[in-house]
Amino acid sequence: MTDMNTPMATARLMDSPNWLYLLREFDALYRYGSAGGSPAIRGHRKRVRDRLSAAMAKNPDVLQTGGDSKPVIAHFPRALDLGERGAMQGMARALREVRDELTWEYGYEKLSKALAQKYAYCEVLGPKGPVQCDTLILGFVLFAPNTTYPQHSHLDIEESYISVAGAWSENNAAVFAPGSLILNRSGDEHRITTGDRDPCLLAYAWCGPEDRLASPNMKLTATRRARRNA
Ligand SMILES: [Fe+2]
Repeated sequence: MTDMNTPMATARLMDSPNWLYLLREFDALYRYGSAGGSPAIRGHRKRVRDRLSAAMAKNPDVLQTGGDSKPVIAHFPRALDLGERGAMQGMARALREVRDELTWEYGYEKLSKALAQKYAYCEVLGPKGPVQCDTLILGFVLFAPNTTYPQHSHLDIEESYISVAGAWSENNAAVFAPGSLILNRSGDEHRITTGDRDPCLLAYAWCGPEDRLASPNMKLTATRRARRNA
């Protein structure tokens, strides 16, 4: 009998059209989208597409990873529906085709009860799969309407978000619409809020050293009160 926690290699990427088309959507975004004149974003986009191309050229294993759900997934159909009507329709449609094979996670050991109802992410490519890659993580994060994702940063990892559906803000700096790309460099503190009517679905990419991608050690930044009490 197979251990339930051990992912099984089900196929190679070239024999898994739904995963292949989803990764091609990521490739197109990071290859043909604009860097908006920012050298930092241009460099990040190149690192993502170089690592993705190298991974796809190896025809990696696609692991069957369980299909775990989380409460926020009640908002996923609406998020996909909105995504399919906007600038990111290709990505939203490709994501819909693998929706039953996604594993939704929290990533944090400590998470407030409120956030556990309103947030989860799934990886589509990375060290844990489903599509295996040690040098890059690609995934999606889903927020319920009216969510605050508390302040955090990522050590040694540069992260970009591309909006698929919904309106959201980072650090109260702007409102981002589908198609927008936001870069958070290693150590950049960021806090996300989402609009009050619709869910928000973001695609993301993480570049970093292989040991860090294998063990990102996600932590929310302590609040001032928690720091005082520590
Ligand atoms: Fe982040």
